[in-house]
Amino acid sequence: MERQPYIRFNLGSENSGRSLNVEQLVSIIRKQIQSDNNFQGCRLPPVRVLAHQLGLSKNTIQTAYDELRAQGLVESKDRSGFFVAEGEKPRTFDFTDKVPGPEFKNISYIGYVNQKQNKAISLSSVFVDPRILPKEKLSACFRSVLKSPGLPEFHDPQGMPALREKIASRLQDRGMDVEADHIIITNGSQQALDLVTRALATKVVGTEDPSYHLGKYLFEMNGIETFGLPIDPFKGIDAITWERRLAEKRPGLVYLTTSFQNPNGYSYSSSEISSIVHWAKEFKFGILEDDWGAEMLSYSEFKPGLRAMGGNNVLYMNSFTKKVLPSLRLGYLAANDKTIEPLLMAKRVSTIAVPAIIEAVLFEFLDRGYYDTHLRYIQEELDIRYEHCLSLLREHMPEEIKWTSPGGGPVLWLELPKRVNLETLMEKLKDQGILIQLSNHAFFGRPHSHGFKMGYAFLSQAEMEEAIIKTSREIKRQMNVQGNCI
Ligand SMILES: Cc1ncc(COP(=O)(O)O)c(C=O)c1O
Repeated sequence: MERQPYIRFNLGSENSGRSLNVEQLVSIIRKQIQSDNNFQGCRLPPVRVLAHQLGLSKNTIQTAYDELRAQGLVESKDRSGFFVAEGEKPRTFDFTDKVPGPEFKNISYIGYVNQKQNKAISLSSVFVDPRILPKEKLSACFRSVLKSPGLPEFHDPQGMPALREKIASRLQDRGMDVEADHIIITNGSQQALDLVTRALATKVVGTEDPSYHLGKYLFEMNGIETFGLPIDPFKGIDAITWERRLAEKRPGLVYLTTSFQNPNGYSYSSSEISSIVHWAKEFKFGILEDDWGAEMLSYSEFKPGLRAMGGNNVLYMNSFTKKVLPSLRLGYLAANDKTIEPLLMAKRVSTIAVPAIIEAVLFEFLDRGYYDTHLRYIQEELDIRYEHCLSLLREHMPEEIKWTSPGGGPVLWLELPKRVNLETLMEKLKDQGILIQLSNHAFFGRPHSHGFKMGYAFLSQAEMEEAIIKTSREIKRQMNVQGNCI
């Protein structure tokens, strides 16, 4: 028979830690039993538990319980211990009392797409194919870290100092003014976004339209007013609209993705970056640069981004999750002397630290030179996949279809004629085992692009071929059907 849970009495407060005698103990328990009918029928703490808690002998507790039984307040049941007597109106402790649930904001949930769902092919994934990620080398680093005495016992809330040094030196090599003291290691770059959101004083944020949707959602969930700065994946930024909106809205922060924007794959030109830096000075806003795509750039020369061109007031975030392993969940935020304190406090109140063991593994991975070797490998591999994807599109897509050529990163944007209904296309493709993701929620209001993102970093050549053939066939079918109706 399952043991009934025992109730807890407040026994310590009246004697302030001093030893109790049997009489005092009986009096305290009696008072508490008599004060609340809900205790009727409930089990008392076992003798050994109470003896341990109060630092008394089991004998003292047993004697007190026997006395309570003699007074008719307590009953003993064979082997099950002592119970509060049930009295005339037996009533057991009611564990089913329900408290009301908290009220939450009404936020619609954008479904998490399982990347390997039912063997379907995820054509819009922004992930790099785990089959080309360095799992064995990472395992070796894990083994090395887990070997004592390498196992870290404590964490640094800002992040492992040696890891921050490594990251800072990599960023300095790319022309950025960053010290290890400016860096906070985060749980993916998503946490970097979260820290900035929490610490932000001015609650107006501008971001790309379309924007990285979980960034946009994060701001909005935190009561921040957001507005969109339109990007056409083929033509880039609309400078006149940008300037007008920035002047009008006076944001405290503008959040931008320098390279291979999610969802449309766009990368800013140097002259666009220069205009953004200029507007930041003119309209006095801070910048948060999301550089997630930087090391996915093929022929890996770095063009200067916002931090490099705008100085160290630009907050910079990047991540290892896409390039090393999604489940590693490590990213970082680079601040400066002035902004590091509130951001660090935002991290401490949110998660205190990221697991130091994982930080140590990543440090080892960088320190052994594995990261650089791996980057060279995935850049080559992604180039092959990218070119293969472009040649499949040229071969199979009908004339009217356009796509961007980002030259690196994980995604390109496929633009379709308005008469192709994206929802219908998505459903039809799903029936054929191809998953595409629409980006409606990434836009501010009605989408000004009509298409979806295609991720070539995630799929093998065979999977990409199957996906593109089925997609183009379905698009043609829809174009013809629609065309006949007109
Ligand atoms: C543009 C962009 N920024 C940030 C993130 C957050 O990624 P993570 O937390 O894995 O670093 C993502 C995730 O897909 C993204 O697409």
